[in-house]
Amino acid sequence: MDCSHIQLCDRPEQIDLQQLQRLFGVAAFWASDRRSEELAIAIQHSNPVISAWDGDRLIGFARAISDGIYRATIWDVVIHPDYQGAGLGRKLVETVLSHPHVNRVERVYLMTTHQQSFYEKIGFEVNSSTTMVLFNQPIEALDIARSVDAE
Ligand SMILES: CC(C)(COP(=O)(O)OP(=O)(O)OC[C@H]1O[C@@H](n2cnc3c(N)ncnc32)[C@H](O)[C@@H]1OP(=O)(O)O)[C@@H](O)C(=O)NCCC(=O)NCCS
Repeated sequence: MDCSHIQLCDRPEQIDLQQLQRLFGVAAFWASDRRSEELAIAIQHSNPVISAWDGDRLIGFARAISDGIYRATIWDVVIHPDYQGAGLGRKLVETVLSHPHVNRVERVYLMTTHQQSFYEKIGFEVNSSTTMVLFNQPIEALDIARSVDAE
């Protein structure tokens, strides 16, 4: 597939939350039930937020959280199934990695259930020794509207 016309964008304000929900619905099993108010909060607290566009159609997304020097974590990497296998996923992740907020960071982490081979091609290594998780309060317990207003 010729994807030379696909544009990558680093402006979070460009993200259409309804399109992002639909993209997650078809291609991101871990994020398929996220609500637009929640996604707005996640985007607001992420930098960079990179999106991929075929005209005005959102076909790819990735975001990172970074302290700018020591650690960053990449989240929610997704390419629409119609556009997979054409190098766009790699381009998306490399655009996150080369962003000024990430490119000097000592270690970049990510979590993946099935896509280790994809990330290994970009330079990531399996690192099972350092990972722990706290299952904190469920999102339903949050008053989303109030927490957005408080920002
Ligand atoms: C994972 C995903 C982002 C990859 O995007 P993509 O555009 O299809 O991948 P690319 O075409 O850029 O592939 C880059 C390289 O990785 C390889 N690759 C891609 N997916 C792979 C997989 N599942 N297993 C092994 N290799 C894979 C490609 O063959 C290519 O190799 P090459 O550089 O030697 O030619 C995409 O398949 C996707 O959105 N999947 C569903 C959501 C998901 O699982 N996201 C990751 C969550 S952590």
